[in-house]
Amino acid sequence: MGGGHKLTTYFLTLLFIIFYSHFINARFTPSDNYLIDCGSPQNTILNDGRTFKSDPQSVSFLSTDQNIFATSNSVPENETLPLYRTARIFDSESVYKFLVFQPGRHFLRLYFHPLHHPSYNLTTAVFTVKTEDLVFLHDFSATENSGSHFKEYLINVTSDYFSLVFSPLKKSFAFVNAIEFVSAPDELVPDSATVLSPPGVFNGVSGYDLQILHRVNVGGPMVSPANDSLSRTWMSDSNGYMIFPKGDKVVSVDPSTITYPVGGATPVIAPHQVYSSAASMEDPGVSNSNFNLTWEMNVDAGFSYLIRLHFCDIVSTSLNNLYFNVYVNGMMGVSGLDLSTITSNLAVPYYKDFVINATAVSDGLIRVQVGPSDLESAIPNAILNGLEIMKMRNSAGSLDGLFSSGSNSHGVSHTKTIAEAIGVAAATIALLVLIISLIRNKIKAKGWDQGRHSSKSWFLPLNASYCSSLLSSKSKGKNGYSSVFTSKIGLGRSFTFNELRDATKNFDESAVIGVGGFGKVYIGEIEAGTKLAIKRGNPRSSQGINEFQTEIQLLSKLRHRHLVSLIGYCDENMEMILVYEYMANGPLRDHLYGSTLPSLTWKQRLEISIGAARGLHYLHTGGSSHGIIHRDVKTTNILLDENLVAKVSDFGLSKTGPALDQTHVSTAVKGSFGYLDPEYFRRQQLTEKSDVYSFGVVLFEILCARPALDPALPREQVNLAEWAMAKQRKGVIEMIVDPKIVKTICPESLIKYVEAAEKCLAEYGVDRPSMGDVLWNLEFALQLQDASLQLDPPEEDDICNAKTKIVASQKSKKGDETYNDSDVSILINDDSGVVTGSPLFSKIEDFEGR
Ligand SMILES: *[C@@H]1O[C@H](CO)[C@@H](O)[C@H](O)[C@H]1NC(C)=O
Ligand SMILES: *[C@@H]1O[C@H](CO)[C@@H](O)[C@H](O)[C@H]1NC(C)=O
Ligand SMILES: *[C@@H]1O[C@H](CO)[C@@H](O)[C@H](O)[C@H]1NC(C)=O
Ligand SMILES: *[C@@H]1O[C@H](CO)[C@@H](O)[C@H](O)[C@H]1NC(C)=O
Ligand SMILES: *[C@@H]1O[C@H](CO)[C@@H](O)[C@H](O)[C@H]1NC(C)=O
Ligand SMILES: *[C@@H]1O[C@H](CO)[C@@H](O)[C@H](O)[C@H]1NC(C)=O
Ligand SMILES: *[C@@H]1O[C@H](CO)[C@@H](O)[C@H](O)[C@H]1NC(C)=O
Ligand SMILES: *[C@@H]1O[C@H](CO)[C@@H](O)[C@H](O)[C@H]1NC(C)=O
Repeated sequence: MGGGHKLTTYFLTLLFIIFYSHFINARFTPSDNYLIDCGSPQNTILNDGRTFKSDPQSVSFLSTDQNIFATSNSVPENETLPLYRTARIFDSESVYKFLVFQPGRHFLRLYFHPLHHPSYNLTTAVFTVKTEDLVFLHDFSATENSGSHFKEYLINVTSDYFSLVFSPLKKSFAFVNAIEFVSAPDELVPDSATVLSPPGVFNGVSGYDLQILHRVNVGGPMVSPANDSLSRTWMSDSNGYMIFPKGDKVVSVDPSTITYPVGGATPVIAPHQVYSSAASMEDPGVSNSNFNLTWEMNVDAGFSYLIRLHFCDIVSTSLNNLYFNVYVNGMMGVSGLDLSTITSNLAVPYYKDFVINATAVSDGLIRVQVGPSDLESAIPNAILNGLEIMKMRNSAGSLDGLFSSGSNSHGVSHTKTIAEAIGVAAATIALLVLIISLIRNKIKAKGWDQGRHSSKSWFLPLNASYCSSLLSSKSKGKNGYSSVFTSKIGLGRSFTFNELRDATKNFDESAVIGVGGFGKVYIGEIEAGTKLAIKRGNPRSSQGINEFQTEIQLLSKLRHRHLVSLIGYCDENMEMILVYEYMANGPLRDHLYGSTLPSLTWKQRLEISIGAARGLHYLHTGGSSHGIIHRDVKTTNILLDENLVAKVSDFGLSKTGPALDQTHVSTAVKGSFGYLDPEYFRRQQLTEKSDVYSFGVVLFEILCARPALDPALPREQVNLAEWAMAKQRKGVIEMIVDPKIVKTICPESLIKYVEAAEKCLAEYGVDRPSMGDVLWNLEFALQLQDASLQLDPPEEDDICNAKTKIVASQKSKKGDETYNDSDVSILINDDSGVVTGSPLFSKIEDFEGR
């Protein structure tokens, strides 16, 4: 009896966890959470609890030529949002640059309201808002009568940065009142949708950037950001979306009666309030109820749209009573939609996505209709709970018009003198020092990075099958490694020896692409052209195999864009074979010297060193509970993929970093001459700072395009680290820069870069920066290089035209103007959005701990 009880309690608790996993979704914590109240002198707290940072002290980098603000003492008429009280004005192309911590779906929300400014009439502003490959607004203007403008986008960000460019039309200027750039859960936009005509399935929605044009809580009140886990606004449809109200009836139930299904709709897809209200027909069953409920929305012609309809049967009293048809623009979307069969219960949310091709919205209207199906068994009725209309980017890469982001059709250009550029640089460097120390303190004080990672792990898609696979793999774990390796939670794939032998033509010498400490590396091809790098270690004893398996477990947990991924392994016949992703462009060294490959530009070299620094930073801090020291950082262990993205390799068989009770790991000297940390060499003590030293050598190798050690050279030049440091001390570092690129490097960028490399080479580990600090310096060097490119001299008449119009507070001299208030503001993202240690989580942790 008692045992049975216990079991029941156990299952109830399990159910509880599965059920509550949906509340974890509801408490979605964005990794990137940039909220900016532009032009505001202080932070602004909205009544939904979110804090919008004042511009000059928030997020990332804002590069603009001046600080011009418009403010209004009161919230503009008919506006409740305090965000509309201030604006920032740009009269030349200006960029907000956000660091992206987690690539994937992001919300971009822009707020515009033409405030009064003594010298700028904001209603006359005409400008384009774009990023590298996507136009958000083309020649946009906020005309006076329509008051404020709110634009919302759901974009797929794949790179480490997101740049938001405000580019005024010639002789005009741009402005913005507030910006949100916030991570969205990837599940929000599934990859496939139903195509309306010809009927079919559309795959690839996840690659599309979207603009949300309409989001309606049908039959219910407006849902404000405070009541939505993703801070969305759901409009009420009482103001004119529904154009055929004859015979309609609004139904609503208590939101708490809505039960989300396991798999499918979640509160992230739409909150309870959306599903707990609907429009349906007034007198179901009466013969005259044979009509369609119809909603009509204005959209831009020439674009395809993603249409999401939300349904939840809150009208039926029993199952299998409701069947209805769904039409979009007259085309059948679903014939005889049968919610009972789909959800197996009443009051369970369901949503469906449709793609409608541009050709079917040529009149700029989208018309959604629901009406009774012809099924005899059904009582004529139809419902709709919510609808969303999202514009899909077109083939030109635009969400507004036909111009691509690249076609730089306008934008007021300007020149700057070198002196001024240096002034900008000096100011920025000073600010950078500030930001680095702030960030460093933050990491120290709050376990900043740790916080990020733990916050991320909370939005794992916890669902029933995930939980059960976790549980089953745990229970099998004691039986040995194999069950762990084959479990679904991703510890890599187990290859058979025969598979790998065939892939490498019996480990033929012609397939060898490298030789490392571990053994030879072969290129192999498996399953119709998938290329792999296969690293075969020398066969070892069974003791060695155990270590090998431990290593694999460790390595397969390390996943990062800038680490070469372990795909699988083979441990048959005492073999130790590791299978990695194949890196098409091979080792970085081959692109620097000693080969015929084209030489890399300075920007490419900066991006590569940033990538490698990110990879190492992750190894040191993020990969496991106590970081991993690479122990052999060098240019042959930094590989480039087909897009020249740098990935650190061979971190494989490294020992884990210092445990908590030690500050170093004592181990036999391993590493490569020319890169060796002198401290490590002397004392045989290994810390992360040994990797930092080696990375400093790599940085000089990248800059000078010569080996770390070159015995053929005169004595003082043999060791690159020593030689470079000697030149740097004399202040003549330019002399040893790769002559192929020396002319293209902007001086400030070079200074920053060499400074970073120099610090890495400090004699004592404690004096060297962390990889995180190095990373920031390199990113900054890249910013400076980019900034200098933007300063390239344009045609003379542009400047004059631009200047005659702008009567701002800046002092400008014709042709050779200097802006007094030139600046680059550096903005810091506050982590306050991170939710940790809620009572719910601690409950689950307790349970697991038992
Ligand atoms: C504010 O609303 C009132 C009435 O709702 C309207 O007459 C007025 O034009 C609106 N003002 C602005 C600036 O939109
Ligand atoms: C701003 O420009 C608009 C349109 O040209 C004009 O109607 C309005 O009067 C101007 N406002 C001010 C304050 O000059
Ligand atoms: C973003 O786009 C890439 C490439 O189109 C795709 O592989 C990825 O799944 C998308 N990510 C999301 C979150 O939609
Ligand atoms: C919206 O949220 C507020 C507090 O955040 C709550 O008091 C209110 O009841 C919610 N509204 C609905 C309709 O649930
Ligand atoms: C549940 O999670 C597993 C593993 O993460 C995933 O493969 C599966 O698609 C998820 N199922 C649903 C319905 O979300
Ligand atoms: C409902 O709308 C569809 C598509 O516009 C149309 O074909 C159908 O005849 C309509 N049904 C009724 C009863 O009006
Ligand atoms: C729309 O149709 C055109 C031509 O039929 C096709 O090239 C295009 O890919 C379609 N767009 C979408 C989003 O389905
Ligand atoms: C720059 O502007 C500030 C006020 O914004 C003023 O105090 C300062 O004197 C100006 N500097 C120059 C060189 O004009």
